[in-house]
Amino acid sequence: MNKENQSEKISKKNAKFFNDNLNYRENVNTIDTYENIRKEVSDILTGTDKLLDIGHGGVFDYSTNEVNKIVGLDLEFMNNNSLPENIRLVKGSVLKIPSQLVSFDKVFINMLLHHLCGKNVRENYENLDKCFVEIKKTLKKGGEIIIVESCVPFWFNIFEKVVYKIAYQVILKFFNHPPVFQFTINQIKNSLIKNGFKLEKYNIIKQGKYILQFGYKFPTFLTPVKTVIFRAKLN
Ligand SMILES: C[S@@+](CC[C@H](N)C(=O)[O-])C[C@H]1O[C@@H](n2cnc3c(N)ncnc32)[C@H](O)[C@@H]1O
Repeated sequence: MNKENQSEKISKKNAKFFNDNLNYRENVNTIDTYENIRKEVSDILTGTDKLLDIGHGGVFDYSTNEVNKIVGLDLEFMNNNSLPENIRLVKGSVLKIPSQLVSFDKVFINMLLHHLCGKNVRENYENLDKCFVEIKKTLKKGGEIIIVESCVPFWFNIFEKVVYKIAYQVILKFFNHPPVFQFTINQIKNSLIKNGFKLEKYNIIKQGKYILQFGYKFPTFLTPVKTVIFRAKLN
C-alpha cells in the first residue's frame, strides 16, 4: 500500500472512531483527570479572542463561553448540532491546515499528537514536526500554542519504537481505535523549538484515578503516561 493510501486509512479510522463515539465524549466529561485538564485549560483560554482548536473530537473540554470565537478543525464535522454558537467547524487535517485558517491568537491541541501516526517511526516524528510547521502559519505574531498531551517515559518510547511496525499493522487490521504513538516530553519540547516556537512553560497535570487509553477508561496506575501541558509562543 502506498503512503497516500496508508495515511488516508488512518485518517478514516480516526474520523470514524471519534465521530461515532458518544462514550468517548461522555468519558471526557466525567473522568477525574479530564476535570483537572478542563480547569487548567479554561484558565489559560479565558479572554481569548480567536481560538483554533485542532482535533477537538466534538468535545471542547473548557469554558467555551469565555472565548470570543472558536474554530474547530478535525477530520470530520463532529458533534455539529449541539455546539455553542461561537464555535464554527472546519473539516481538515493538522498536517495540511486549510489556508484560510489564519490570524488566531491561540491554537489548542488536546490529545492530538499521539494520533499523527505514519506507517513507521520516522514518519511519526516527521508528522510531529509538520504539525508545528502548519500551526505556525495559523497564528498571529506573538500567538500561542497550548498543547495537552499524554507523554511517555524514555524507556516506554524505546519499547514503542521496537514494536511499532507490527503493532501498527495489527491495530489497523483488527481494532476500531486508530494506531497511536506517544512521545516523550523532551521530544515534544525539541520539536516545538526546532520549528520556531519559544517554550514558555510546561507542567504535569495532576492525574486522577482514571485516564483514557485507546479511547477507553483505564486505571491511571497501570499506565506509565503523564498528562503534560505545554505553552509556547511564536519566536
Ligand atoms: C483523542 S481525540 C481528542 C479529542 C479532544 N481534543 C479531547 O481532548 O477530548 C483525537 C482527535 O484528533 C483527531 N485527529 C486525528 N488525526 C488528526 C489530524 N491529522 N488532523 C486533525 N485532527 C485529527 C481525531 O479525529 C480526534 O477527534
